[in-house]
Formats: sequence, structure tokens, C-alpha cells
Amino acid sequence: MRPVAPPKTFRVKSFGCQMNVYDGERMAELLAEQGIAPAVEGEAADLVVLNTCHIREKAAEKVYSDIGRISKAGAEAGTTPLIAVAGCVAQAEGEEIMARAPAVSMVVGPQAYHRLPGMIEQAVAGRRTTDTDMPADAKFAALPQRRRSAPAAFLTVQEGCDKFCTYCVVPYTRGAEISRPFAALFDEAQRLADAGAREITLLGQNVSAWRGEDARGRPIGLAGLIRAIADLPDIARIRYTTSHPADMDDELIAAHGEIGKLMPYLHLPVQSGSNRILRAMNRSHSTESYLALLDRFRDARPDLALSGDFIVGFPGESEADFADTLRLVDAVGYAAAFSFKYSPRPGTPAATMPDQVAPEIMDERLQRLQGALGRHQLAFNQASVGKSCTVLVERRGKLPGQWLGKSPWLQSVHFTGEAAIGDLVEVELTAAGPNSLAGRLLEPALA
Ligand code: SAH
Ligand code: SF4
Ligand code: F3S
Repeated sequence: MRPVAPPKTFRVKSFGCQMNVYDGERMAELLAEQGIAPAVEGEAADLVVLNTCHIREKAAEKVYSDIGRISKAGAEAGTTPLIAVAGCVAQAEGEEIMARAPAVSMVVGPQAYHRLPGMIEQAVAGRRTTDTDMPADAKFAALPQRRRSAPAAFLTVQEGCDKFCTYCVVPYTRGAEISRPFAALFDEAQRLADAGAREITLLGQNVSAWRGEDARGRPIGLAGLIRAIADLPDIARIRYTTSHPADMDDELIAAHGEIGKLMPYLHLPVQSGSNRILRAMNRSHSTESYLALLDRFRDARPDLALSGDFIVGFPGESEADFADTLRLVDAVGYAAAFSFKYSPRPGTPAATMPDQVAPEIMDERLQRLQGALGRHQLAFNQASVGKSCTVLVERRGKLPGQWLGKSPWLQSVHFTGEAAIGDLVEVELTAAGPNSLAGRLLEPALA
């Protein structure tokens, strides 16, 4: 590679889960601290960070087409943008990217991006570098402090996964489970609050496995962390995602009934309604244990909205297995859900299992599943009409005077009237669609 001028502008593009969104924000803060400015919307950047996702095949392929597009746009403008590939594809396929995509000068894994400034220096000097080390917790200490925040902020509290579901790349791309220390998290939550956050979503690949010690040295779990953050006066709402059914302890269940700031929403992926398939997936729960767990959550918080993740077409999934999934969906009545066609990932046990399901069958099952999930989501939204609730205003809507925000149950709500971003307003819900609700402003901002 030839030496280039130090970059003046950057753009970070994040794909995949919310933890990648969080990492993308932290990378942007790190680059800004180096004196590199965010590129103006619509204009080419001198440095592009692709913060990638490896969870399904399509997500990973996107990286190469993006690299092609960025270098082509650069060539047309007579520039050579520096390209960094970060995130889970970088971790899983770092060497392959370096070999296949000469336009890429940096490959940096999810646990190493605090070292980007040094890598940029090398790239400017014409040297390509790869850093996919997994130093436990070194990253967070090396990142700049939080100074800006949207009203709804993410805070990564736990990383990595030890569950090894047989279809999943996350234990390989994100490494073993680690919990960030309580003091660092409390400090970051406080800074986010000072920077304008009213809601904090605690993030982890397996967030309910978070463990730490509180300020007095007592061992606590996620419920204890939520309790501590709920004491921050400027934080009005707390959420957490994503949990595994195996790690939901009594204290966390109780917290849903006891902590008013903990929102009545739980994302608890189940993946399949067939015990045979759950065993093959190495999920360590059954349909029955999952349903029993949900009952306990609903006892603690009767208005709890539930959401889940589903995979159709896991190897060996029969029509009867799939029918079990549809039955589970009807039994739970999810308020929202994500559903995916099984995608074989290199290096995972399921990729080499016999009886891979044909793509047409997966398509057809996904359609039926999404039909059922869509009906439940619409029914949930319709059942909210006529109720009033607090909405956290997150941004302007498309129409003049219109605002968009979230209900406690994570529904998108739009309304018109006197409000500002970051306000918590009382809204009466007046109409429901599958993906959002319309509301009427009842009174001006509470705070
Ligand atoms: N740690 C979280 C999220 C994992 S990734 C959890 O356990 O729920 C988010 C979702 O992607 C998973 O819940 C699963 O539904 C889906 N997923 C993961 N690997 C997949 C694969 N190989 N093919 C299709 N979907 C997959
Ligand atoms: Fe993947 Fe399973 Fe871990 Fe979730 S719990 S990240 S699906 S291995
Ligand atoms: Fe994707 Fe990595 Fe998240 S694979 S879903 S970005 S943990």
C-alpha cells in the first residue's frame, strides 16, 4: 500500500446487533478524540469503518460488496479512502479479508478496537495491520469517556457467550463471557445520564449472566446492577437484552415487579418450540421450562410484553417440529419477534449435521411463522388502543410537528404537539398498526 494523508473525516457503519451499535458509537468517540471529524451525510469519508456482523451468511457477504462500493466511489472521486473492517466478520475471517480485499488496510476485532488510532497511523504510512486479540476488559478502560448521548442509550455490561448453541458463531467471534466491573458501569451510566440519556438499555450477548460486586463488595447479579442504576435520578427507564432462559434468576424475576424504572418488556429468545430441535441446538431449556419461566415473569409483572427470536429450518426440523413452534407462538402471544432462516456457519457443529432443510421449505416456514408473529404483534398493539402511557420522545417524525418515541412496551408511538427530544410525555394511544401506534398528547413534558 502507498502512504496516504492522515484522514480528516470518518464514517462508522454498524451492522448486526445492538452491541455492534454500541461499539460503533464508542469507535466514533475514539476517532473524534483523535481529531478526525464525522463525515457530512452524503459526502465521502477519508476513513470508513465497517463494523460487521457474522451471524448469518448474508450479513457476512455484505462486507465484500461494501468494500467494493467504497473503493469504487473513492476512485471516481480521485481519492483512496482508508477502510477498516471491524466487528465479528473481522474476528472470524480477518486473514481472508486481508487476502481477498487489498483495499482494506485495517482488520480489527470486537475486543481490540481501542487500538484503532495506532492502526490508522500504520495505514497512513502504507502498512496494513490486523488485530484480533481478545484482551479481557482492556478495551473499555482505554476508550474515551462518554460525553454525548441520545435519550435512549446503550450500555454494554457483558460480552461474549459460553452457551455454544450449535448454530451460532458468537462464542467464537466474541469469545468467553466477561462481565464489566460494577464501578465502571455505574460511572458510565452516570455519565450517560449527565449527557442526556433518560433510558439505558443494558447490553450483553448473554446479559443475564452478568456478575459483579457492588460498591460495598457484595456479590450481585444483573438485578443488583439494575437496582443501582435505577437510583440515578435522571434515568427514568431501564431495559436489558439479550437473555438466555438458563440464566434468569429469582432476583431478576422479582426485580420486574419491584423496580418501577425497569420497563415491562422482556426479550427472551426461544428459537424453536420443538424439544427435539432445542436439544440438537444445545439450548439447555425445553418448551415447558421456557413457558414456566414466562409464567413466573408474568406473575411478577402482569403487563409484561414478550419478544423472542426464532430460527426455522434448523437441520432435521420436520413439519411436526415446526408445528410445535407455531403452537408455542400462539401460547405465548409475543408483542414482537425476530425470525430467521437457519444459516449454516462455518465451524459450528450444526453446519455439518445431516438433514439440512431445503431452502424452499425454509422460505415457506418462515412465511407462515412471520404471518403468525405478525398477527400477535398487531393484536398486542390493538389491545393498547384507548390506554394512555408515558412515551420517551426520541426524534422528529416525518410530518411537521410530529414526534416519534417509545412506549414502555417498546412500541413506536407517533403524535403531534408541544414536545422536545428527551421529554417523557403522557400520550393516549388512539390507533394501532403492525409496527407503530398513533397517540394524542395528554399533557406537556413531565420533566
Ligand atoms: N445472544 C443472543 C443473540 C444471538 S444472535 C441470544 O442468545 O439470543 C441473535 C439471533 O440470531 C439468535 O437469537 C438466533 O435467533 C439468530 N441466529 C443465530 N445464529 C443463527 C444462524 N446460524 N442462522 C440463523 N439465525 C441465527
Ligand atoms: Fe449464540 Fe446461543 Fe450464545 Fe445466543 S446463547 S449468543 S444464540 S451461542
Ligand atoms: Fe452479529 Fe457479532 Fe452481534 S455476529 S449479531 S455483530 S455479536
